[in-house]
Amino acid sequence: MSERINRACSFNRLFLGAFLVSCLFSVEPLQAGPDDDANTAKSLADMLRAARQVISSNQTRINDPNLGDKGLTGQVVLQQAVEIFKKTTGTDPASIDPASRLGRLMHAQMDAIVEATDANQATINAKGVGFKAFIPAVFARLVNESFESHAKSEAQIKVTAPEQLVRNRKSRPDPWESEVIRGKLLQADWPRGQAYAAEVDTKGRPAYRMMMPEYYAGSCLSCHGSPKGETDITGYPKEGGKEGDLGAIISVTLFKQ
Ligand code: HEC
Repeated sequence: MSERINRACSFNRLFLGAFLVSCLFSVEPLQAGPDDDANTAKSLADMLRAARQVISSNQTRINDPNLGDKGLTGQVVLQQAVEIFKKTTGTDPASIDPASRLGRLMHAQMDAIVEATDANQATINAKGVGFKAFIPAVFARLVNESFESHAKSEAQIKVTAPEQLVRNRKSRPDPWESEVIRGKLLQADWPRGQAYAAEVDTKGRPAYRMMMPEYYAGSCLSCHGSPKGETDITGYPKEGGKEGDLGAIISVTLFKQ
């Protein structure tokens, strides 16, 4: 099993060099195509990022105390996420065969995006309340929790972080994730933005697992930045993070059937 460990291709166009290198060294002899493990994991991570970006772009609107109905229904958020996904990946989810594993999982995820948004309409539309704590990280966690019930035991998506940065206990890395964060993603020579993937038994079942690193941007630091320990707007102590630090990892698990 471990012989098939490979490095998933990096997706960030800015790091085309790393992309080429990682593809050259990729050991993925058994399958290649839209339904393969690497593309499936990447597509799920890309769609999660797209959906999170929709909440991020609408954050000021969501936090506006003078505005009631924001018009941000599940379908609206999904449509905007699909547009972003199409732009970033060049693929229209509608073109994916819904009967394929990729199609099934993408649909489960898109349903989860709608569900997590619709379930929070009262919060999003609350008048007279400014900051509502409906932020991208919370939204992503709710989408992933809903995805887990839709995708049954076929796949899991989680957003985690280096252990000392984790706020919500539910998002703590498991032992394998911790090891990858410490031994790979945090290493000085790890190519920036490059995902790590491996086949590894998880919960007693063979699985393909992918960890896609993300780094703090300036916009994250009002909550995750300095001074370390100071309470942020959400009530959590700031982590003292700096722009460019490894701040998040999208962790995708695809169980073998
Ligand atoms: C408004 C404050 C705020 C901003 C801005 C913010 N976060 Fe967070 N972040 C939080 C809170 C609160 C949680 C806990 C969410 C929950 O309950 O699951 C969180 C959770 C996370 C998590 C999940 C792991 C954990 O700690 O529970 C990651 C990863 C993360 N944030 C990364 C980022 C990144 C990267 C950015 C910038 C792109 C960012 N955050 C911007 C407040 C913020």
